[in-house]
Amino acid sequence: MVKKTFSICLSLLLFLVVAAAIPLVATAERGVLAESVAPTEQVASTGQALKGKGLYTSYCIGCHGKRGDGISDGAKAMTIKPRDFTKGIFKFKSTPAGTLPTDADLLQTISRGLSGSMMPSFASFTEQESRAVLQYIKGFSPRWESEEVGEALVVPEVPEYVDTKRSRRRGKRVYFGSGGCQVCHGSKGDGHGAMSEILIDTWGNSVKPADFTKGIFRAGGEPEDLFRTLKAGVEGTAMPSFMYILRDEDLWNLTSYLRSLKGEE
Ligand code: HEC
Ligand code: HEC
Repeated sequence: MVKKTFSICLSLLLFLVVAAAIPLVATAERGVLAESVAPTEQVASTGQALKGKGLYTSYCIGCHGKRGDGISDGAKAMTIKPRDFTKGIFKFKSTPAGTLPTDADLLQTISRGLSGSMMPSFASFTEQESRAVLQYIKGFSPRWESEEVGEALVVPEVPEYVDTKRSRRRGKRVYFGSGGCQVCHGSKGDGHGAMSEILIDTWGNSVKPADFTKGIFRAGGEPEDLFRTLKAGVEGTAMPSFMYILRDEDLWNLTSYLRSLKGEE
């Protein structure tokens, strides 16, 4: 009898101890979880960096080169050379001349590719993959450590008059007038202007003004794309930024005019 009472007391005591310990265990577990967030993030970013490097090695190195300087066997045969990432200068972007592009600009280039050049579209990459490879290519230039990204231009809503006859006519006037586009792009818009043969880009390669009769625009041919290109210019090349030279209305009219030149010889 004494023995039975003793064992009941013991199990009660045990129960109480266990019951009291449960919240302790729970708290301890929460503590462990809270502490483990930082190392998990670290593992994730190391994983991301490895992924970026892996993707670069599989998909980009053949053109952009091992050091990201655009020197590769593939590059030799190309007229439009693969970008040298070590300078941190990019052509197609929404930020003002002289400033770094936004992630969105570069992600767009990676996903769309650059038509009219050998830069392919990587639309099949997941967003995480594109971001990983983007982080990796940023590592080639110290600019990303020392400078802020430029402030993206806001492209207003496309006005209704874009692509109308009247807008094209006005755009043509700007093209030959205050825009001075024919000097490089030619009076037919075929890229054979007076200056077209002598242009060299920042990377030391010859660069030809766009031929509008082909209707191929590397940064996109939709009205909002062209407006953005005209406003921001094509960095590293003779293609100027018209942000402080022409009014938005002129840029929209030019957009109409350029879009109408396709197919004209
Ligand atoms: C077959 C060759 C080729 C491959 C493969 C290639 N590129 Fe390119 N890339 C180019 C060329 C050529 C240009 C330059 C186009 C120009 O100057 O208009 C370029 C330009 C770029 C630019 C600069 C755009 C700008 O605004 O200046 C980025 C960013 C870029 N490539 C990223 C990548 C990434 C990331 C990969 C791999 C996932 C890749 N490229 C694979 C040929 C290639
Ligand atoms: C001093 C020479 C020069 C002048 C002036 C000039 N451009 Fe350009 N433009 C270029 C060059 C060079 C390129 C090619 C850049 C590249 O693709 O590497 C270019 C490219 C372009 C592109 C194509 C971008 C793309 O997405 O492929 C457009 C659009 C354009 N110019 C419009 C104009 C218009 C409109 C004017 C006049 C308001 C103008 N340019 C004046 C030299 C010039």
